[in-house]
Amino acid sequence: MSGSNDKAHKLVWDLPLRIFHWGLAASFVGAYVLSESERLRNVHVMLGYTVAGLIAFRLVWGFVGTKYSRFSSFAFGPLAALRYLKGLATRSPSEHTGHNPAGSWAVYAIIGLAAATCVTGYMNFQEIGGDALEELHEAFANAWLVVVGLHLVGVLASSIAHRENLARAMVTGYKRGVAAAGGSARPLVGLSLATAVLAFWTWTLATGGQVAVDAGQASESAGAATESGADEHDDDEDQRG
Ligand code: HEM
Ligand code: HEM
Repeated sequence: MSGSNDKAHKLVWDLPLRIFHWGLAASFVGAYVLSESERLRNVHVMLGYTVAGLIAFRLVWGFVGTKYSRFSSFAFGPLAALRYLKGLATRSPSEHTGHNPAGSWAVYAIIGLAAATCVTGYMNFQEIGGDALEELHEAFANAWLVVVGLHLVGVLASSIAHRENLARAMVTGYKRGVAAAGGSARPLVGLSLATAVLAFWTWTLATGGQVAVDAGQASESAGAATESGADEHDDDEDQRG
C-alpha cells in the first residue's frame, strides 16, 4: 500500500451509490431466484419494480451525484476499455480513482439490461406480447448472469492487479485514490433512498402485493388493479396507501 499523500484513502463512492449498488444486487438476485414461482409472482414483480426504481434513481444521480457517481467521470470509449484490459493482462493497468474504463462499460451494460428486463417484465405482466415476449424477458434476465459474472471477474482481477479490496470499497466508500476525493457521502440522500426501498417493500408485502396482484388475478381484471400500482418509482407509493 502506498504511503504517499496523493494515494491516500479517499471517499470515492457516495452513500446513495452504495445503497443503489447493493439494493440492485439484492433485488436482481431475489427477482431471479423467485422468478419460477407462480405463488410468489407478486414478490418477483415487487423486486423487479425495485430494480426499475433504482435504475431511475441512478440515471438522475449520474448527473447530480458526487464526482465519481457522475457519468461524465467515466465516459470512456471502447479503445480506452481495451487498453485497460490489455494493461490488466500484462499486470500494469492504468490507475483510476473512480470506475476504470472496462468497468464503466459493465455499468452501462447492467443499466441497459436492467431497463430492458423491467420493460419486458412489465409487458408480460400486462399480458402484452405473448410467448415471444416471455422468452425475451427470460433471455434478458439470463443475460444478467453473463454480465454480472464478467463484472465479478473484473472486480476480482482489478482487486488483485491494484492490490486493493474493491468490494470492501463498495461497502465503505473509501478507495485508494490518485485524484481528489469525491466530496460528501450525501448521507441524507442515501438514507432517503434506503427508506424509500424499505417502505415500498413493507407496503407491498403488508397489502398482499397491491402493486403486483398475482398473475391469475391480473388476467381476470385485465390489469385494472395493476394500472394504479404500476408506477416505477418506489418512493411515492405510500401516498396511495
Ligand atoms: C447481481 C449482482 C451485482 C450487480 C447487478 C452489480 C452491479 C454493479 C453496478 C451497476 C456497478 C456500477 C455502480 C455505479 O452505478 O456506478 C457496480 C460496481 C461495482 N460492483 Fe457490483 N454488482 C453486483 C454484485 C457485486 C458483488 C457481489 C460485488 C463484490 C464482490 C460487487 C462489487 C462491485 C464493485 C467493487 C464495484 C465498483 C467497481 C469499480 O471500482 O469501478 N458487485 N456493480
Ligand atoms: C431484474 C428484474 C427481473 C428479473 C431478473 C426477472 C426475471 C424473470 C425470469 C428469469 C422469468 C422466467 C421465469 C420462468 O422460468 O418461468 C420471469 C418471468 C416473469 N417476470 Fe420477471 N424479471 C424481472 C423483472 C420483472 C418485472 C419488473 C416484472 C413486472 C412488472 C416481471 C414480471 C414477470 C412475469 C409476469 C413473469 C412470468 C412470465 C410467464 O412465464 O408467464 N419481471 N422473470
